[in-house]
This record gives sequence, C-alpha cells and structure tokens, in this order.
Amino acid sequence: MDRDAPLLFFDSGVGGLSVLGPTRALLPNAPIVYAADSAGFPYGTKSDGELAERVPAILGRLVERYAPRLAVIACNTASTIALDHARAALDLPIVGTVPAIKPAAERSRSRVIGVLGTEATVRQPYVDDLAARFAADCSVVRHGSAALVELAEAKLAGERVTVADVHAAIRPMVEAGPGMDVMVLACTHFPLLADEIAAAAPGIAQVDGGSGIARRIAHLTAGQPWPETPAPGRAVFTSAPPTLLARALGAFGIAHVDTI
Ligand code: DGL
Repeated sequence: MDRDAPLLFFDSGVGGLSVLGPTRALLPNAPIVYAADSAGFPYGTKSDGELAERVPAILGRLVERYAPRLAVIACNTASTIALDHARAALDLPIVGTVPAIKPAAERSRSRVIGVLGTEATVRQPYVDDLAARFAADCSVVRHGSAALVELAEAKLAGERVTVADVHAAIRPMVEAGPGMDVMVLACTHFPLLADEIAAAAPGIAQVDGGSGIARRIAHLTAGQPWPETPAPGRAVFTSAPPTLLARALGAFGIAHVDTI
C-alpha cells in the first residue's frame, strides 16, 4: 500500500464534509480527496435509474484519476440507490452511508422518530427494511426536503441561513410526529445545519452516521501506512464551485480546489 494513497470522499455537493470531519479527527494524517458532483447536484430530486448510472460512472473516473485506497460514498441518496452498482463495477473497498435508524431507535424513549433525508432517500425500500429491522415498535415519520439541502450549500458558500428557513423546511416532519424525540439526519448535508436544526426543533435529538462511518474507515484501513504528518487535502468539483466555499473547505483541511 502506497502511504500517499488517499481516501476519496464522494457526494453531490458539500454534504460529505460532515463525514470527512469525523474521519479527519480519527485519521489526521490521511491524505484526502473530496469530490463533489456539483454538475449533477442535487441528487435528491433525480430518478433512481439516473443515479444508478451516474454515480458508478463518475466514481470510476475519480478512482482512475486519484488511485484511492478506499472510497466513501458520503451521500445517503447515492448510497441507498447506487452502492451495490458501484461495488460491482469497481475494485476497491467502498464504504456507504446508511440512514442511522438503528441508533435513533436505541435512543428514543417516546418511540416516535423522524427520518429527514432527500425525497429520493426517504422513498427507498432500503429505508423500509431498516425501519422494520431496527424500529419496528416505533412510529417512523419520513420527510424529504430539497430545501434543506440547498440551505446547507448556501451556508457553506457563506450565505446567511436563518433558523426560520430551517424551521419551515422541517416543520412538516415535526408536526406529523407528535412526541418525536429523535430525528435521523439521513442526508449528509444536514449535520452541517445541526445548530439551526436544534434551534428550530428544540428537544429533538439529532443522530447521523458520520462518526460510525469514520470508525468503519479506520477499521478497514487499520495497519496501513500513512504519511508522517497531515498533508493538505484537495477537493474536486464537476462544475465551478462558489468562490466563498474555499473558506469552509479550508476548515476541513482542504487547501486545493480543482474543477474537472
Ligand atoms: N448529501 C446527499 C445525501 O446525503 C444528497 C444531497 C442532494 O444532492 O440532494 O443524501
């Protein structure tokens, strides 16, 4: 194993940073390539067929270009639809992102939990399976919000995002589940709005998969060599990103931004 071989993070936009953050905390010297398919953004309103074709194709090009040791599909939408296709097409370990329904059900006392994702994620049979396996005695309220994804992108691009905007996006879910005490952030964009969501829905705990995925990556790469010091990470976008995004990327250790 080449010690400089990176971990490749893939999302439609900036959401995967919520998985990159906990991974850097565990593996500070890991070389990072953060890839955003911004030309294909948003994924949450696309058809399953389109994503099942697009995600493995783009991931394949990225793997050829950056020769990562492992790829992370840091996107619930792409994972719930295209993880199996990507694994079948590519010859490297691929870690996916699964809605954290199991830990949410373990934590809920009221037995009413929310699953907040994209429209594409919340309609997946995969989510039915998780709810049936791990939250059979819970009332599981699902809500897909494209607006919340846009708000996360806007926040990281340096725009002002208000609690009222976030409240309007999540209100249908909260109102549909009286007594809800836990919500699953089943889109990687949403932990980037954790403070705004907490202010908009006080008393409802948030659960996401970021730290579990980071532990999985550490487990899969245990014993592999890493550089002796942290190297600056790089990001690659499939269309030009907003200029002010560079500041947010810098906070995640990303110093170079390319467009391909
Ligand atoms: N970050 C993505 C997810 O976890 C999707 C956002 C989008 O492109 O709609 O589902």
